[in-house]
This record gives sequence, structure tokens and C-alpha cells, in this order.
Amino acid sequence: MTLPRFSLSKISFAVATLLWLTRLAAAQDFKKQVIYQIVTDRFFNGDTSNDNPSQSSGLFDSTMTNWQAYWGGDLAGIQAKMSYLKGMGVTAIWISPTVDNENLNMATGSPISAPYHGYDARDFMKVEEHFGDTSNSWSAFDNLVSAAHSNNIKVIVDWANNHSNYNGGGEFGALYNNGVFMASDSNDPNGYFHHNPNISNYNDRYQLQYYTLLSLEDLNQENATIDSYLKTAVHQFQSHGADGFRLDAIKHVTWGWEYSFANSVFTQSPSFLYGEWYNNNSGDPMYHDAYKFANKSGINELDFGINQAVRDVFASNNNFSELDGTITTENSNFTWSNDFVTFFDSHDESRLLTLNNNNNRLHEAMAFLLTGRGIPVILYGDEQYLHNDTNGGGDPYCRVWMSSYNTSTTAYQLISKLAALRQSNDALGYGGWQQRWINNDVYIYERKFFGDVVLVAINKNDTTSYAISGLFTSLPAGSYADYLGGLLGGSGLTVTSGSGGNNPANNFTLPAHTVAVWQSVGTPAAPEVGSIGPTLGQPGMKVTIAGKGFGSATGQVLVGTTGATVNSWSDSSVTFTVPSMTNGVYQAEVKNSSGTASNTIQFTVLTGQLIPVTFTVDNATPTNMGDYIFLTGSTVELGNWGTTFDTAIGPMLDPNYPNWFLNASLPAGATVQFKFIKIAANGAVTWENGSNHQYTVPSSGTGFVTVNWQY
Ligand code: NOJ
Ligand code: NOJ
Repeated sequence: MTLPRFSLSKISFAVATLLWLTRLAAAQDFKKQVIYQIVTDRFFNGDTSNDNPSQSSGLFDSTMTNWQAYWGGDLAGIQAKMSYLKGMGVTAIWISPTVDNENLNMATGSPISAPYHGYDARDFMKVEEHFGDTSNSWSAFDNLVSAAHSNNIKVIVDWANNHSNYNGGGEFGALYNNGVFMASDSNDPNGYFHHNPNISNYNDRYQLQYYTLLSLEDLNQENATIDSYLKTAVHQFQSHGADGFRLDAIKHVTWGWEYSFANSVFTQSPSFLYGEWYNNNSGDPMYHDAYKFANKSGINELDFGINQAVRDVFASNNNFSELDGTITTENSNFTWSNDFVTFFDSHDESRLLTLNNNNNRLHEAMAFLLTGRGIPVILYGDEQYLHNDTNGGGDPYCRVWMSSYNTSTTAYQLISKLAALRQSNDALGYGGWQQRWINNDVYIYERKFFGDVVLVAINKNDTTSYAISGLFTSLPAGSYADYLGGLLGGSGLTVTSGSGGNNPANNFTLPAHTVAVWQSVGTPAAPEVGSIGPTLGQPGMKVTIAGKGFGSATGQVLVGTTGATVNSWSDSSVTFTVPSMTNGVYQAEVKNSSGTASNTIQFTVLTGQLIPVTFTVDNATPTNMGDYIFLTGSTVELGNWGTTFDTAIGPMLDPNYPNWFLNASLPAGATVQFKFIKIAANGAVTWENGSNHQYTVPSSGTGFVTVNWQY
């Protein structure tokens, strides 16, 4: 029987719409998630037929003695362990870069060096044969995604926009588009790569973005072919069901371009993005750039400040004040601090148990992360206490083989309990954070979202108990059992009535190495908004607001004072379409069906879909050390004529001083006005003279505009 054509396409359209709606409901709000990071090659071998594929043979070591070889873990292996993951309560997995990696040995001779970690791409359009199957098909990825989704687990793919592969061996950076050769380090007639030396100064903005990271062939994202290649490739992963992406090395990819990458992802379908800005600690000279980027790009960041502080406090026994201070500083600088992705172990550093082989400390660090501010990541194997301490246990020895899947470890139980609490008590995902009691060994902090409260007490000392008195909390008067049921030694708490959200707790003793968790869930009097995602978008984009108490009947979403079309509505999640309205930074809110308004949350309306544009200003006004040239202009993408480090676009880069350039992302097809300004080290602003420059952004591709500084 032949079906008429139109009905086939109707059916597939309906299926696609259904899939899209399912994803829409699930994606974007990641604040309640617990992410489990998997080094795909090291987790479980679910398919031995891909261990030693013919196109890349000889890179597999079945003895698992060469730490730079493939050991056999794959996507089918992750799928095979789905019930283990589900039982632990994790709600998202972050897997290694899944794109096709180079096929040849990167070392000369033996021992071989293989891209088992996935950071040496050769073809972003295909799936790596060691992880999927020997024909580089999507089957294993699709199967993993559907198994994960049917267990309510999201799939986050690690994604490296910065580079292809190692330029000093193997395939020398060669890049392919679905099997068709594009360029390599020594054969690049179209300028797909940058060809600069390795980065030597990690405090130089030009080197960071345009030089080569660790001999990895550096992609030129301003090239229209590369721009479209990377965006097409990521869309392909989205259409195969990826829910989010961990963006590798975002400090080394052209910063302005990344705004258009994020926008392109969000325009395609709902997603969550977080990037590795190593190292966004507050003491780093690039710290200000790091939080400006996180605040404006739509890309959240891995929290290296918390990473360092947790390791210092729990492994090296530093005082809790370090952790407390780190959170205070970061919360004041990062607009979306609950979207920080927090971690203490990763595939790039010694595991906590290598630094201090003390399971109590590991449990305490885990409990902190899972109840702390941000979206927590647990590195695979931590729940099994795995670590290999060779040479200090760093890369590659932190990438241990997952040799046990015991579901009764204390760590596994702990993760499962606290992951459940993240779902049931919105204080963890959406709440503020307040220190309530602190000394060198004890940290008591509170998370609070309207009437939802979680109070956590940690004593990390191995032998000393502490008497706690003078503790106040927002928990209502009453008796509270330890939510962990004594798993880490905690017991109950009694709270009496006080005033101003400060209710006195009874005095109690917090025994050595104890974590106690007390919590209470309130009943909303009005809609309570905890999250918006993405945090910026152009008219027509679908955006999700999450929180609680929205009611079951459809109400209203307002962006500023403009009503938006509501696409879906539930008590905890609403999606709307960004209305056609003037670009700018607004407050959005939800009104329930009886017209009661929520709190507001910031949302930026873009002028249009973003494409990358490179601006150059020649012969700019002279500058002294510490002065910078910035770009500013007539739309929100250009800072709406802002004149500060945070509101203007830049700093610009001056490898050809006194000419300055910068790549930014601008609304396709829009006509914009702009000027260049000098912001001196002391903040004094000097404008270019004359009338504003005007530029019409191309409707697609990439743009370039060069002007002379107007004296
Ligand atoms: C950071 C990743 O986490 C690391 O594992 C990788 O080698 C580099 N970026 C280069 O991609
Ligand atoms: C104020 C500046 O003084 C001027 O030079 C600039 O053109 C305008 N802002 C933007 O219209």
C-alpha cells in the first residue's frame, strides 16, 4: 500500500511536534537537576564490537594499563547502567564530547596516545566510532537519549567549539564535514583556522581567544563556513535529543561569537548551556570578564571558585570562611548565581579522595554541593570512592575505570536523598543563601525560596564535637527530623517562634564529621518565580519560567508591561513566546488566572537573531596602560550606549595598536548606530567625535565593518 505523501509528512510533523513539546516541558530549567559527569570511555563497555574499529584501529588497550588509550566504555555502556543512574537520583548526565575524534595515534610510536576523552574532533557531524558504532551512525546516541529520557534523565553533551585536534601529530588538526575534508593545520586555503602560536599569557585577552590552546588546532569562528559548520553540528545534536551542552574552553573561543552560538542553540530548541571558563576565581585577572560573559551571553559557567574552596576546605582543612567568602563574592557578581554549575571533582584534576583519603570529608563535600547554591555535578565513581593516586592523581589518573556499581554505599544513598530534596523543596534550586553560624570547622547555612526553607549544618572536624548556641533560622517554629535520617550522623532540631524571619533554634551538639539537614515546604500565597531560561532572546523565541504556585489554570506572562503568548502552563512551569517589542532589559512576571502577580525576574529582549560581526576601528585615540577602547551603540546587543566595563561591548583587542578590533554578536538584518569610546583606567570616558557610525547587519553569515576613529 502506498500512503499519500502528504499524510506521511503530516505524521512525521506531528511526531516531531510532540517530541519538541515534550522537550520544551522538560528542558531549560536546570536548577533542580543533579548532573552526573561521565568520561564515556571509562564508564562501562556496553558494546565490544566498537572497541577496536578498523578506521581507527590500534588505539584500544584491553589491559587498561595505558591511560592514554581507549578502554572500551561507550554510549551503549551508559545506557546499560541507566537503572544504576536512576537509582542514584541523578537527573542529568554530562557525557564526553561525542563527535567523531581523530583516528590516528597522536604520539610517535608507542605507547600510543588516543583521544579517548573526546577533545580532538575531526568531524562534528558524526558520532565517534569508539562510542557509537563502526559506521559512525547515530544509533547508539539515539538509543541512549531515549533510554535516558524515559527515565527522566537529561543528556548533556560536552562540546568543544574552540578547536579540532592536536596540531603536532595524529591528523594534524584535520577537520571534516560529514566525511568531506575541510582543512588541516598545513592545508587551510580558506582560513578555517587561526594558525597562531600556543597561548603563553593567560591574562592577554587577544591570546586567550585567538592563539592556540595546548596545540589544539584553533578554529576561526568568524569565518562564515566555520560559523555555520559549528552551529549546524550542534543543531544536529539537538535534533537527536541532546538537552544541553557543556561548552569546553569558553575563555578561548571568540567571546562575541559565543553569544551568537548560544542564541542559535536557543533559537533551534530549548537547551541549557554551561561553559568551562578556567579559572573564574575572584582573584583571577580575567574574573570581571568571566562574570560579564556569564551575565550577558546566556551561557552559564562551571564554578571554579567553589571548586577551589571546597577542595581547600574539605580536603586541605582550610577554614569554612573561605567557602563562605567565595559564595558571597560570586553571588554579588554573577546575576544568575543559581545557574552556576558547581563541582569539586572533574576529569581534569585529582579527585578529592586523592587529596585527602577520608570518606567522611567526601560525604561532607557532596552534601555541601548538593544543598549549596548552584547546579551540582557529581563526577562518576565518587559514589564508589574510586581514585588512583599515581603522580598525584591528576589527568589522566582521575579518569579511573568505573570498576564497581554498588548501590548501597553511603555516598550513593546520600546523592539519592539529596537529589530527591532538590525536587521536593524549591529552596535548593531557586533559593537565596544565608550563612547562619560559622567557625573554622562548622558551617550552618540556609537556603530559602519564599516559604521553602532548607537549613544545613556541617561539622567537618574528625574528632571534635561543637556546642551550637545562638542559631537562628527561617524554619517555622516546630520540630524537625534530620532529612538524611541520621545517614551522616545528624539528629533533630527544635525551633521556637522569633521575629523577622529569625526563629531561635534550641542549643544542640553537632558531633564530629556530621551533616544534618532540616527542611520545610511552604504554601504559596502568590505565584513564585525561581527561574527563567534562556535569560535572553529575540521576539518569537520560546522561553520557560519555572517556580511554584502558578495554579493549574492558564494565566498571563508579562515582559515589562507587554503580554506574551503562553504556549504551555502548569503549576510549576510556563512557556511563552517573546513578544514583538522594543529590545532592552526588562522584568518579567507571571500572573495566575485570578490576576495575582508573582515576583519579577530579569529578561533581556534582543532585537533579532544574532550573527557575529567583527568591528575594527583604525587609528584610535591614544591610550595609556590600563585604558581600553570599547564599542557602544543603539541596541541592547551594543549596550544601549552604555559607557562602563559592564555595559559597553569589550574591551576591544589591539594586536595592531593603535587599531582595535572586536567580534560581537548583532541582530541579523538590523540597522544600528555605534561609536567607539575610550574607558580610561580610572573610568573616565572619551567619546569619538562626529556623528554616529551606522551599519546594516547582514541577514545571515558573518559581518565585518572597519571605520577610522573620528577625531
Ligand atoms: C578542558 C577539558 O576539560 C580538558 O579535558 C580538555 O583537554 C581541554 N579543555 C581541551 O579541550
Ligand atoms: C552620547 C555621545 O556624546 C555621542 O557622541 C554619541 O553619539 C551619543 N551618545 C549616541 O547617540
